[in-house]
Amino acid sequence: MLSSPYPVLTCPGNHDARGPYGRVLLGRESGGDAAPVNTAHRIGGAVFALCDSTVPGEDRGFLADETLAWLDAVLAAEPAAPAFVCFHHPPVPLHAPYVDPIRQFGEERLAAVIARHPQVAALLCGHAHTAAATSFAGRPLLVAPGVVSRLVFPWREGEGEPVDYEAPPAVAFHVLHDDQRLVTHYRALP
Ligand SMILES: [Fe+2]
Repeated sequence: MLSSPYPVLTCPGNHDARGPYGRVLLGRESGGDAAPVNTAHRIGGAVFALCDSTVPGEDRGFLADETLAWLDAVLAAEPAAPAFVCFHHPPVPLHAPYVDPIRQFGEERLAAVIARHPQVAALLCGHAHTAAATSFAGRPLLVAPGVVSRLVFPWREGEGEPVDYEAPPAVAFHVLHDDQRLVTHYRALP
């Protein structure tokens, strides 16, 4: 088994099923496919709120009302700790025709929650397989690159596959300063 000094935190994506995800990856003894898989962690002085943005049986994303209520409570419980709000689907269009139709929708409800919690340093997501940076509700919204493939640029869609499966895996490395300024390094791995 691989070991690491760093904790590995995950949240489900559109190819996951909530029940098996909770049982196999999170060690939960029971759990069906109905309830969102949300988890909160306090690591290195920061709060990580991992929200389940999946919609069972669909590729698009949406945060259920119970997930937003849970997130609001998690953030309200530790207002002095910098927080990262994490989920799979980006809640804004990325101007990428292949993934925009299956992004996270209903995002104005999330924006209302974020607006109540100034300690949210950034929102982190994936799904789009493209290293991208934008903002959401006045905070950084950082999209992780793909670890197995990379989205082609929009102007190259139509030339072939919308996803490049030969691209090297890549990661995002986030560093939070004491003053809550965030620096993100994007790297392709050899
Ligand atoms: Fe995805």
